[in-house]
Amino acid sequence: GLPMSVTIWEVGPRDGLQNESSIVPVDVKLEFLDRLATAGLGVIEATSFVHPKWVPQLADAEELLARLEPAPGVRYPVLVPNERGLDRALALGSRDIAIFGSATETFAKRNLNRTVDESLTMFEPVVQRARTEGMRVRGYLSMCFGDPWEGEVPIAQVVAVARRLVGLGVDQLSLGDTIGVATPGHVTALIRALTDAGVGPDRLAVHFHDTYGQALANTLAALQSGVTTVDSSAGGLGGCPYAKSATGNLATEDLVWHLHGLGITTGVDLHALVRTSVWMAQQLGRQSPSAVVRALAAE
Ligand code: HMG
Ligand code: MG
Repeated sequence: GLPMSVTIWEVGPRDGLQNESSIVPVDVKLEFLDRLATAGLGVIEATSFVHPKWVPQLADAEELLARLEPAPGVRYPVLVPNERGLDRALALGSRDIAIFGSATETFAKRNLNRTVDESLTMFEPVVQRARTEGMRVRGYLSMCFGDPWEGEVPIAQVVAVARRLVGLGVDQLSLGDTIGVATPGHVTALIRALTDAGVGPDRLAVHFHDTYGQALANTLAALQSGVTTVDSSAGGLGGCPYAKSATGNLATEDLVWHLHGLGITTGVDLHALVRTSVWMAQQLGRQSPSAVVRALAAE
């Protein structure tokens, strides 16, 4: 069966903007965050406390969080790779963080400058300290289906790293299809294998990129497997840096259209969200790649 409601974990301000070639001014980011909250999104990943040389698009994280006026009841998680990142997040009063690991060695090296083992060692004190502070901690796992350098990623390998991340004490694990190559049968098989290994769908989220146009089909497969948290990016912001494709994350509008059509509640006002993405596209000087944004904006 399908769930009655789904939690959308909006990643546009973080995953979207980190992959846009232009650097968006902090005032525009703040307006974007406000408009997303007004459109009814309850979890909005705001930015990352990573090395500014690695992700210059998010180098303004301090100013952004210092000036953000949180909307009542809205969560604003931030990405934190290490203790230095956690210190920065704590200094700004963050209550909600995400660490981000990789199922493959190549991506761990390229994204974190660490082996998989070394990255888990790096995360351990982050999760421990965050939990002591009473923070919420999500764990991302990238390259759960395919890796641009290593090809298809074996399910057993994903399960092994997933169990270690969960063992660190994260509340939720988000399964990343970083390059958008997953298909629904693969999604079903991975969630079944994780469930058999003790990581059931109540602790999982899915994070699909739409590079091959499979993100909604994959989402439906995940919902049918019992997952109720889905990541998406308003307007489909953010290309894929590893696939040189215009389409990045699953667009939140495409997701909302799909879910509402199934009678699943999200709390999102689709028209307000489309207006937000049309406005954001103007700021970036390019059209939104979302089919639903294009269709509704043309109405
Ligand atoms: P490193 O170069 O190995 O860092 O990078 P280090 O630990 O050797 O430290 C070197 C210097 O960086 C030191 O400064 C540190 O203080 C500083 P120095 O002493 O030389 O002056 N430093 C920092 N400065 C600010 N903030 C920090 C920080 N950490 C160290 N947090 C590091 C290691 C993890 C920092 C680096 O690789 C990094 O920042 N990586 C982030 C990459 C990233 O943000 N990727 C995108 C997010 S993941 C993603 O998008 C996938 C996802 O969407 C899911 C999916 O789609 O699959 C989540
Ligand atoms: Mg991503």
